[in-house]
Amino acid sequence: MSFLVPNIRRIYGRLIPPPDKSISHRALMLSALAQGKSEIKNFLRAEDCLATARALKMMGVEIIEEKNNLCVSGQGLFSLKKPSHVLDVGDSGTTLRLLTGILSAQKFSSVITGGDSLVRRPVKELLYLLRSMGAHVEGHEDDSYPPVHLYPVTKKLVAITCKPSTVSAQIKSALLLAGLYVEGQTVIQETIHTRDHTERLLKLFGAAVREVDSKVQLTPSELQGQSVTIPGDISAASFFITLALLLPESELEVEEVGLNFTRTGFLDVIQAMGATCEIDPLIKDSYEPTGRIFVKASPLKGVTVSKELTIRTIDELPLVALLATQAHGETKILDAGNLRFKESDRLKAVALELSRLGAHIEEEESGLVIQGPTPLKGAKVKSYHDHRMAMMLMLAGMISEGETQIDSIECISKSFPNFLMVLGKLSE
Ligand code: S3P
Repeated sequence: MSFLVPNIRRIYGRLIPPPDKSISHRALMLSALAQGKSEIKNFLRAEDCLATARALKMMGVEIIEEKNNLCVSGQGLFSLKKPSHVLDVGDSGTTLRLLTGILSAQKFSSVITGGDSLVRRPVKELLYLLRSMGAHVEGHEDDSYPPVHLYPVTKKLVAITCKPSTVSAQIKSALLLAGLYVEGQTVIQETIHTRDHTERLLKLFGAAVREVDSKVQLTPSELQGQSVTIPGDISAASFFITLALLLPESELEVEEVGLNFTRTGFLDVIQAMGATCEIDPLIKDSYEPTGRIFVKASPLKGVTVSKELTIRTIDELPLVALLATQAHGETKILDAGNLRFKESDRLKAVALELSRLGAHIEEEESGLVIQGPTPLKGAKVKSYHDHRMAMMLMLAGMISEGETQIDSIECISKSFPNFLMVLGKLSE
């Protein structure tokens, strides 16, 4: 259903962002594989994470849900049961990859598939690496895409030492989860350090995991049930941070938000653009650091985002592009080829849709180049059923002159079901 973007004057107030999506998935999976009860407080009840819950329930995991709190009765690493149907994980790429890691090591067969965007998400390198551990796994179109077929292991998987060529936390995490079942020590070397939530949670659940230089080493170990509180999602908060920077006289305080270094690239980018952005890291001794962020409307200048910073900002790059349309000078987003394989081809989608609003933006093979500042003008735009595109375009419409209509925004419930309600509360 098409959506007419509302007009708002400014953003003002205090935001406690929704629970972190990446950490919610992982906390639930590890609780399901652990021995004993786990309590997950502040779990993200959005489509993607609910897809993980549904798949685990289909394999016999007992999950009691009370609002945002889950109680999971884990029975250990070998307790999953053969699902009676194909596992449909909706459009959740994280569920697809991480579950593929776990299921590649089971004594039963299973099939993972999902919606239209999921069956275009690449799995080739992941399947190749799992096969090198001895797993029997197959994908569609020469192993490129889901559905993924996983066959029973007949002989225990073997540990590998590898350096994936795709820079991806999902591949790393899937290999670590498979690594819980192998003979020997799994060693994954990263060319660029990606989000490390799996490593942190594995440690919390008692696994023998170590990070040495750019290598993650895991020795198979039983997991013990835990009580885990999920921090606020910095990626979700970034939408409102962006709007506060762009709308004159805005002020926003974000509280209880995750400040894991592998996720805070966006804050570094906006500071480099000249934004007023204060960061108070309040809790450092938990399994994930959290804190408070204060931002206010600020004049911005162009920047270059590349390599390690691109990876630490991977989900926020559409927002960087939007900010760049209003910043003085040129902004370059480099080394962002991975963006072509998200819920949409985000390099193409961002360039095309922001151009419709009048932005000066060039799509390159693995990046974007934006010239600013350019006043944007309302137009009809498309979300490609990609949640981060839909929310970014909503903000773009709000800073545009005239009406903006987005073809569909239902996809927002994938990660941020309360987005419109929060917007209503914070906007004036
Ligand atoms: C995620 C990792 C990132 C990110 C995605 C969530 C995760 O993907 O874009 O939204 O939870 O591990 P890749 O690391 O595979 O690029």
